[in-house]
Amino acid sequence: MQQWRRLVRLRETARRRRRRIVFVFGIWSKLLSYAEEAFNAVIIGKFLFGMTLSIVILIYKWRKRHLSIYENIENYLEQNNLMPIGYSYKEIKKMARGFKDKLGEGGYGFVFKGKLRSGPFVAIKMLHKAKGNGQDFISEIATIGRIHHQNVVQPIGYCAEGSKRALVYEFMPNGSLDKFIFTKDGSTHLTYDEIFNIAIGVARGIAYLHHGCEMQILHFDIKPHNILLDETFTPKVSDFGLAKLYPIDNSIVTMTAARGTIGYMAPELFYKNIGGISHKVDVYSFGMLLIEMTSKRKNLNSHADHSSQLYFLFWIYNQLGKETDIEMEGVTEEENKIAKKMIIVSLWCI
Ligand SMILES: Nc1ncnc2c1ncn2[C@@H]1O[C@H](COP(=O)(O)OP(=O)(O)OP(=O)(O)O)[C@@H](O)[C@H]1O
Ligand SMILES: [Mg+2]
Repeated sequence: MQQWRRLVRLRETARRRRRRIVFVFGIWSKLLSYAEEAFNAVIIGKFLFGMTLSIVILIYKWRKRHLSIYENIENYLEQNNLMPIGYSYKEIKKMARGFKDKLGEGGYGFVFKGKLRSGPFVAIKMLHKAKGNGQDFISEIATIGRIHHQNVVQPIGYCAEGSKRALVYEFMPNGSLDKFIFTKDGSTHLTYDEIFNIAIGVARGIAYLHHGCEMQILHFDIKPHNILLDETFTPKVSDFGLAKLYPIDNSIVTMTAARGTIGYMAPELFYKNIGGISHKVDVYSFGMLLIEMTSKRKNLNSHADHSSQLYFLFWIYNQLGKETDIEMEGVTEEENKIAKKMIIVSLWCI
């Protein structure tokens, strides 16, 4: 009996020990499986991280290469004065940084400030969708592709995607000439020497359009708003939306629709029976511009003190007849001479 009990106790102890071993082994194997899972998770995590990093590096390298191609093209075009680049609308939107910085608005659409991927600032002209079938735009592209001159705004690119039309020009930090000659109080920091140099630059730009290109280019809209000034106040003739190309030997052309801006338009553009239309329409507009530059006021001034000054041309014509200095306030004798010279040239033009 005694032995039987001992046997039972021994069996009990052995069973308990076995259970304990099974329990410890169970915990141990659970711990091992957790560790394995954690290890696997780290490996997978590392793998995923590595993959993502490689993809990001690949995208970055591809984009850098892609952008550097554009940068090279933009730089090359800039250095070699070649044809404008065609951009997609998405690229234009990016360049214009969401069209936040508006420079102005004209008859053809809005002008926004933008930045090229290669760095320089640009002016992006977005043409109104509703106007025309894009013919003016295409005409402008064809024209501007041929234009390279110090006194003509350099086109950089264009966009013609679906109904979207845009033109990208080099940015002119000093804006358009009207801001400097039509100041409210008549004051401007441009001296008569500077105004004279601007006038010569504009004349050179127009002469180039008329006689320097393969095709004769008539501008049809010479006015202060279309004369842009760079950082050194070098004038650049801009805006060829109204220009058309004509063979150089065609001195007289036919027109189907009147183009230009009232106040600068030559009479032959209004009255069909007073002569053919030629490059002289731009010469006339230049004459009107020259008078405004000299007088630093609009030719037609409805707020003039004297009725004789209402239409400035009559007044200036009478002044020249007097054979004395032109009546101008706050100018030196030297400046008066420059002004008189400019007025005489302007009267030759109109
Ligand atoms: N390349 C440029 N650099 C800086 N500013 C510019 C440039 N081009 C245009 N602008 C600004 O945008 C304004 C609007 O230009 P836009 O040519 O559309 O109109 P406009 O010259 O006043 O009239 P129009 O449509 O008859 O030419 C200009 O007056 C000028 O101030
Ligand atoms: Mg313009």
